Amino acid sequence: MNLTSIFDLSRAEIEALLAHAEELRKARNEGLRERVDLEGKTLALIFEKPSTRTRVSFEVAMLELGGNVISLNWNELQLGRGERIIETAKVFSSYVDAVMIRAFQHSMIEEFARYASIPVISGLSNQEHPCQTLADLMTIKSYKKSLPGLKVAWIGDGNNVCNSLIGGCAITGMEISVACPKGYEPDDRIVKQAAEMGCDVAITEDVEEAAADADVLSTDVWVSMGDEEGSERRKKAFKRYQINEDLVRVAKGDVIVMHCMPVHVGEEMTEAVLNSDKSVIFVQAENRLHAQKALLVRLLK
Ligand code: CP
Ligand code: NVA
Repeated sequence: MNLTSIFDLSRAEIEALLAHAEELRKARNEGLRERVDLEGKTLALIFEKPSTRTRVSFEVAMLELGGNVISLNWNELQLGRGERIIETAKVFSSYVDAVMIRAFQHSMIEEFARYASIPVISGLSNQEHPCQTLADLMTIKSYKKSLPGLKVAWIGDGNNVCNSLIGGCAITGMEISVACPKGYEPDDRIVKQAAEMGCDVAITEDVEEAAADADVLSTDVWVSMGDEEGSERRKKAFKRYQINEDLVRVAKGDVIVMHCMPVHVGEEMTEAVLNSDKSVIFVQAENRLHAQKALLVRLLK
């Protein structure tokens, strides 16, 4: 089994992962660390782009589960000198038990998964960020108790994190409103797939319309990795797409504010909101660790 897209998981599988992740979180907070689950297993991490949370949380997850981890940058592999993915995937399959890849192109991760005989996990591509969505769903559930029927509002770029969150909402029965400028909408195919699953996906240019009565407000950077060339154009287009105190007031009184991080303070989110009691972004980041531990046990044990 692979996790290259959030749509690889069913509702029951997500529920089981979140329940296990919650158990692992409690055990860790009580000082009980399961160190044996993945004894003798090795996970390789391949990064074509920078990372703080994904790299550290996967490394710590493997170590705390008793396994081994190898982190590699694209350019230190022969991939960086033009070795093909097909041979690389076959070779990795004979050395390690699973591989997580952060790549520019989603198609590269899919190609790797096609030729690998071990589980392949996406650690973000231009199209999706499924591990982030698992942590996001875990975070929403911990604050709201139950997911079906909740309204999630996404403010800003209809990017990889947004695409996977739309899928996560569709799978777990939440509705989602996306406020973004024209030309920055989430992936059409993902919106269509979510709608076909009965998910109410609304796309608007109006931030207040999206945020109205939301249970969850979420956002991400205006300029994702790989989009730097259009940086100035993006900063102009996204000027109004900010989670600030005025926008928080439009949402429900008990709204939680989320951001996958890294956050660009003063752009997509104000300092006041980031540091307010509505912000759950550090819990969300911590939950990457617990959710990925549950995923690794599911894929490797
Ligand atoms: N949210 C997230 O994936 O962060 P990193 O880019 O630091 O891994
Ligand atoms: N959308 C951002 C997410 C970073 C975790 C990016 O792709 O750069």
